[in-house]
Amino acid sequence: MKALVKEEAGPGLSLRHVPEPVTGRGDVLIRVLRTGICGTDLHIRAFDGWARRAVRPPLVLGHEFVGEVTSIGGDVTGVRVGDLVSGEGHLVCGTCRNCLAGRRHLCHRTVGLGVGRDGAFAEYVALPASNAWVHHHPIDLDTAAIFDPFGNAVHTALSFPLVGEDVLVTGAGPIGIMAAAVARHAGARNIVITDVSEYRLELARRVGVSLTLNVAKTSVAEAKERLGLQEGFDIGLEMSGRPEALRGMIANMTHGGRIAMLGLPTEEFAVDFSRIVTSMITIKGVYGREMFETWYAMSVLIEGGLDLSPVITGRYPYQDFEAAFDDAASGQCGKVVLDWTA
Ligand SMILES: NC(=O)c1ccc[n+]([C@@H]2O[C@H](COP(=O)([O-])OP(=O)(O)OC[C@H]3O[C@@H](n4cnc5c(N)ncnc54)[C@H](O)[C@@H]3O)[C@@H](O)[C@H]2O)c1
Ligand SMILES: [Zn+2]
Ligand SMILES: [Zn+2]
Repeated sequence: MKALVKEEAGPGLSLRHVPEPVTGRGDVLIRVLRTGICGTDLHIRAFDGWARRAVRPPLVLGHEFVGEVTSIGGDVTGVRVGDLVSGEGHLVCGTCRNCLAGRRHLCHRTVGLGVGRDGAFAEYVALPASNAWVHHHPIDLDTAAIFDPFGNAVHTALSFPLVGEDVLVTGAGPIGIMAAAVARHAGARNIVITDVSEYRLELARRVGVSLTLNVAKTSVAEAKERLGLQEGFDIGLEMSGRPEALRGMIANMTHGGRIAMLGLPTEEFAVDFSRIVTSMITIKGVYGREMFETWYAMSVLIEGGLDLSPVITGRYPYQDFEAAFDDAASGQCGKVVLDWTA
């Protein structure tokens, strides 16, 4: 089968013929239809410091995908041949304290699809059946291809009750924009989204935020004034991984404000802890998706009319992966999708 492979320790990717994945009794084999390109894939292509530590070539990349089940192992129940599935890319151990308690997203032995083992940028991918999420209702394939990052957005946005609340989203990348869309759908009052890229802020306007803010030019405090907020934001969703974004958020939260932080900083940094303490601010780290409560929420949000199509700006046949990756790396994009059926 064709697959996008990181062949050796260095920059670049290659489209190669590789053997089809071997499946066990608990696995399903999936014919991949569409895949989403993630920041993680860009790190692996560039083979930066993080990728050097996390990845051992040769490796088939990719964890955001939708496909059709073509065969199932002898022990598989609940997934059938012909099912349309997206995949939970965090493979958990099943035996640690958290796994046994049903808190699989907290497994400390998580292995990432397309990072710690061969992934979905290929014509076929194998997955434990317990990681396959079956789409029981008709769904747009591009939307289904980005269920993994959509799940990051849903997990973060629904970390705290949003109804009637004033929400600050820092970072209008694809995940920040999807989180803003979820907050809107879930009944937040004001939603302010920040970025330093006009392109990304323009994209964010399409999902119905109250205010977009270029923090290279305008401060969050000014936005607070413009919206007439008396005290500050009730809920913060940190989606940039930037120190200055978290600092600005902490400075503009109401007393008792709650922050869910998905953005992954690349290094340690200082924040105003006395403000966190005296304003009694909660900060929650968010990783991945809850298995499978987040997935349930994702499916019903889409069935309920949440539209992610504004976030998807690039569609390429898999043979044009270089152009697709360049598009995704440019920042002048939302989510970029590869078609594996062309
Ligand atoms: N915790 C997890 O499980 C998980 C999973 C996926 C992604 N992530 C992280 O979540 C974040 C969002 O993912 P994404 O794919 O949307 O990333 P992205 O890089 O496309 O988006 C980040 C955005 O933040 C903007 N930004 C830069 N400086 C800013 C500032 N000072 N204030 C506000 N915005 C600023 C950038 O211009 C960019 O548009 C990233 O940090 C990513 O690494 C975490
Ligand atoms: Zn991803
Ligand atoms: Zn575990």
